[in-house]
Amino acid sequence: MAKTPAALVLDQDVQARFEIKQALRSAGLTLAGEAGLGMEAVTAANELQPDVIFVGVQEPMERPLQTIESLLSLLPDTPVIVFSQSRDIETARKAMLAGARDYLPRPVRPDVLRDSVFKALTAEENRRLRKIGQLPSAATSGTIVTVFGAKGGIGKSTVSTNLAVAMAQQHADSVVVVDLDNGFGDITGMLDVKPEKTLFDLVRDIDKVEGDDLPKYLVKHELSGLNVLAAPSVLEWRQVSADQVRRVVELLAKHFDKVVLDTSGTLNEVSEMTIEIATMVLWVTTSEFASVRDTIEALRALKTLSYSQERIRIVMNGISPDDGVRPSIVQEALQRDVFWQIPYDKKVRQGTHLGQPIIITAPNSVAAKSLSDLATVIGGGRLGRSGTGSGKQGGFKWRAGAQAAGAEGG
Ligand SMILES: Nc1ncnc2c1ncn2[C@@H]1O[C@H](COP(=O)(O)OP(=O)(O)OP(=O)(O)O)[C@@H](O)[C@H]1O
Ligand SMILES: [Mg+2]
Repeated sequence: MAKTPAALVLDQDVQARFEIKQALRSAGLTLAGEAGLGMEAVTAANELQPDVIFVGVQEPMERPLQTIESLLSLLPDTPVIVFSQSRDIETARKAMLAGARDYLPRPVRPDVLRDSVFKALTAEENRRLRKIGQLPSAATSGTIVTVFGAKGGIGKSTVSTNLAVAMAQQHADSVVVVDLDNGFGDITGMLDVKPEKTLFDLVRDIDKVEGDDLPKYLVKHELSGLNVLAAPSVLEWRQVSADQVRRVVELLAKHFDKVVLDTSGTLNEVSEMTIEIATMVLWVTTSEFASVRDTIEALRALKTLSYSQERIRIVMNGISPDDGVRPSIVQEALQRDVFWQIPYDKKVRQGTHLGQPIIITAPNSVAAKSLSDLATVIGGGRLGRSGTGSGKQGGFKWRAGAQAAGAEGG
């Protein structure tokens, strides 16, 4: 960082502001300005455009929390660090959930403050670079495949589970599927497994979990060897932030070859994080007008939010037998290649209801072959002559060129 970061200090209490200003000075950082909370804070932030913002929090929490939220919607890329007299974990948790990057107990030591600012700015810079595709995810070895789609009921979970099962079977890789549908996740039902723990437990224990502990949080799909991390309950989701989920995914990617993320059908903080962190995004759409329209809109939103779209691959899934629209029409509407097509297959639906992925129960069905080929291609393998890639009926490679590029994750 070339210039000294400039900080804005916000608190109703002038004495507390004075203390932080002193610490800033001793830490060698610049003071951009100071103000109270609420509108005053937002106006100052807007005028001064600081590099980092300090907000004092104390009970009652409404005002400081609202201030943090308003600051983050005004300057989403500027880290907010809170400081407080309180040592209460609940206060810290509330501040972090509102979007604060760090929590510093008063009196704040200059070295702690300096460290916190530089960590927050580095994390923010990395986040920006990841978003525009300039920095690989912090997750090291494993491939992260995010299955997203801008709508409910279009086959995201079907694709995630079957793909993950196929990967676990084919490549003898270690594979984990994570249910990140923060509405009502249904991966465990689709695989008929009964988890004892969920993502919620792993989020809670993340600081003390080592690689060897991971199996305790996962449930095994015995038929394929696939590992499953179940979704928290709807109420538990309210206590989980996107950053916490990111840490879990990064940890899994360190210990598994492939991490498949199933998501909800909306753009929210968690799904945006999964798009940001992915090696490859399989973007599911059907050929129905509403699904294509929502895809166009969501892709546009991602572009506005400066997310890199290079890793996004369109997967057209035929959830209904009368989806008569040709991929070329969808391609034209989206102004993008369709990377893969999965045909309609009534066995998929039967499998969903029975908790049996079609890849296992009907491996020769058209949809299973298509999903299995997709797993091969993502795994970096080639399709043999008998692969559905050459078929007209089954799942087929739609534009071989686009597919090969995708297989390399580029
Ligand atoms: N290729 C297909 N052929 C036939 N039926 C399919 C196909 N793909 C998915 N389905 C069926 O469509 C329904 C919805 O699928 P799924 O639950 O995977 O969608 P989703 O996008 O994950 O939905 P949600 O947003 O609610 O989580 C299921 O009954 C599933 O069996
Ligand atoms: Mg789903």
